[in-house]
Amino acid sequence: MNFSGKVAIVTGGTSGIGRATAIAYAHQGAKVVIAGRRVIEGEETVKKIEDAGGKAFFIPTDIVQESDVKAMVDKTVEVFGHLDIAFNNAGSYGENPSLSEQLDSEYERIMDVNVKGVWLSMKYEITQMLSQKSGAIVNTSSILGVVAMPSVPLYTASKYAVEGLTKAAAIQYAQSGIRINTVGPGAIETAMFEKATDGQDEAKAYMAGLHPMGRVGKPSEVANAVLWLSSDHASFVTGETLIVDGGYVAQ
Ligand SMILES: NC(=O)c1ccc[n+]([C@@H]2O[C@H](COP(=O)([O-])OP(=O)(O)OC[C@H]3O[C@@H](n4cnc5c(N)ncnc54)[C@H](O)[C@@H]3O)[C@@H](O)[C@H]2O)c1
Repeated sequence: MNFSGKVAIVTGGTSGIGRATAIAYAHQGAKVVIAGRRVIEGEETVKKIEDAGGKAFFIPTDIVQESDVKAMVDKTVEVFGHLDIAFNNAGSYGENPSLSEQLDSEYERIMDVNVKGVWLSMKYEITQMLSQKSGAIVNTSSILGVVAMPSVPLYTASKYAVEGLTKAAAIQYAQSGIRINTVGPGAIETAMFEKATDGQDEAKAYMAGLHPMGRVGKPSEVANAVLWLSSDHASFVTGETLIVDGGYVAQ
């Protein structure tokens, strides 16, 4: 895959799947904008890309704040001239497993980051892509966007919402040169996985065992799928979910 001349935004590019994908885009020739809240980690991603000969910059962005998201797209176009690819990947996890004890604040945090953040990002990215009559967007869903996990009802609901947003937007812009898809990771070795398992080896082994391949995935394995969805190789693919889960949802 050759992304020379392309410009990509990655939200949550400060760590995990987002960082791995930002580095992979740059490795294939794209100029990359790292958007996220954490400056040190964002600049670390930029440095990794620049050390390998790529071009990138970091823009502090809270994807829940409309002004931040607008600035993310405006700055991208100001610095790199256009926007070809967006990977809307930032997400939030962690809630009381008992729905009857959940708080408004948990609902708001998860829905704000996972749903509103993706919607706002698409809103400004699509506005720019419409003016160019082309673009590819990949939103990060999850296996929990297609099957439920009882211990995380809010997170599950938020990822089902990402699926719905993606499909509706994909159809709305299908004739405007903009493709919109999701990637649906199973358990992937990142900070979020550490949080989900409390860093406990037993919990990690349990999660690995839920996947037919008997292991969890690596961020780079998700990045490979995202790059394909973002590329011209996927030119007739829109409104689709590409599951990357070692067989989890096939069960
Ligand atoms: N790791 C897994 O097992 C797994 C499985 C399925 C889906 N996912 C999804 O993958 C995506 C990336 O997660 P990850 O596993 O790389 O974990 P991660 O914790 O490394 O990455 C999440 C990123 O989102 C950023 N973020 C959170 N709230 C934000 C906000 N308001 N504004 C900007 N950035 C914000 C965080 O700072 C972080 O960089 C998430 O959407 C997550 O739901 C992860």
